Amino acid sequence: MGAVDQRDSALTPSFTPEHEALQSLVRRFAQEKIKPIAEQFDESGEFPLETIREMGRLGLMGIEVPEEYGGAGMDTLAYVLTMIEVAKADASHSTILSVNNSLYCHALMAFGTEEQKQQFLVPVASGEKIGAYSLTEPMSGSDAATMSSRAVLSDDGTHYVINGRKSWVTSGPVADVMILFTMTEPERGNKGITAFLIDASQPGLKRGKKEPKLGIRASATSEILYEDYRVPVANVLGKVGEGFRIAMQVLDAGRIGIASQALGIAEAAYEAALEYARIRRAFGSPIGQFQMIQQKIADMRTRIEASRQLIYHAVLAKARAKQTGGRYTTEASMAKLFASETAAFVTDEALQIHGGMGYSKELPLERYYRDARITRIYEGTSEIQRMVIARSELGLR
Ligand code: CAA
Repeated sequence: MGAVDQRDSALTPSFTPEHEALQSLVRRFAQEKIKPIAEQFDESGEFPLETIREMGRLGLMGIEVPEEYGGAGMDTLAYVLTMIEVAKADASHSTILSVNNSLYCHALMAFGTEEQKQQFLVPVASGEKIGAYSLTEPMSGSDAATMSSRAVLSDDGTHYVINGRKSWVTSGPVADVMILFTMTEPERGNKGITAFLIDASQPGLKRGKKEPKLGIRASATSEILYEDYRVPVANVLGKVGEGFRIAMQVLDAGRIGIASQALGIAEAAYEAALEYARIRRAFGSPIGQFQMIQQKIADMRTRIEASRQLIYHAVLAKARAKQTGGRYTTEASMAKLFASETAAFVTDEALQIHGGMGYSKELPLERYYRDARITRIYEGTSEIQRMVIARSELGLR
């Protein structure tokens, strides 16, 4: 067994009055504005632009971005609390929020130049534009470094010309700007990947068809096709050849967001199940009086709280890494792994407690069950998280 980390002096991040105010503001907004439309947008698969714009006006599209760059100037705990509340109301909204905040804005904050921040961060953090993150390709998912898209430097050295196909791009059908990871020097493997800032309105970029999906149906997902798309060298994010490290580092932040999303979905399903266990009667008493239901309630609640602690643990590790220049990869992967598997367990058990009513579209249980499924797949499958954690424990990274 690997050595257990004893470095945390605190077990949970510090909650300030600002965190509490944010949490109650987001809770009210999510319950009053998002929850009532969740079913309709799940059904239609339409992108919920109006509520996303409202979240932008509330400062939720760039929570950790400093105010001078259009964001709310808060910390990762604030982001986590927001993700939980939004996901509890509707997972689709939280997916859009998550990519904008912890993949797109985070990458620009960590690696962008001042000019890049002005042009590409300010409008996205303020919610005026929508950002996306483009890593996966049809033949490159978990093995992210093996990509076939290419960027070739123009003869005059002013532009790169990009060709290739990216898939599963969250917000792809609507995003104004994207971070693209593509090969500039294929012979160098993962050291040949470069990150680019892409303006989606320029010629040479085509949006593929919107993916029909099992869950998070209102978060639009599509392919993005590049055909001789010309991007100025000034749009290289970080250094040429540094793209894989940027992609991975950004995913560390993203995985805390997906863990929080999974926790929010689990909480929504759990609260519904708890209420149902109190009111539904069978064999002469409320079903909550039966030990088999009690066991489910106890296991659901315990796993939810364990997920929350792993998320807080990752938040603390991220803050510590910011000070020391270290990594929090393992902590983020553990939080994502456990919270997403908990969301699967809890939504399944909550549906089971509801019996036939859980299977009906009249209640949101079946939506929670479908929405939870993606959290074990995107931003790194559960299998990849286990690989990351085990490699770190074994000193193999
Ligand atoms: N931070 C910084 N550097 C990192 C890193 C991290 N988290 N992870 C890896 N690196 C570095 C390594 O240190 C190594 O550097 P050196 O070569 O200098 O030593 C380099 O990157 C290569 O690392 P590995 O040897 O570990 O690379 P690998 O090819 O074996 O793959 C992997 C590692 C963990 C499997 C990685 O490919 C991975 O995470 N795959 C999953 C990809 C993923 O999550 N995709 C989801 C895309 S986003 C999405 O879902 C859509 C959306 O819109 C939400």
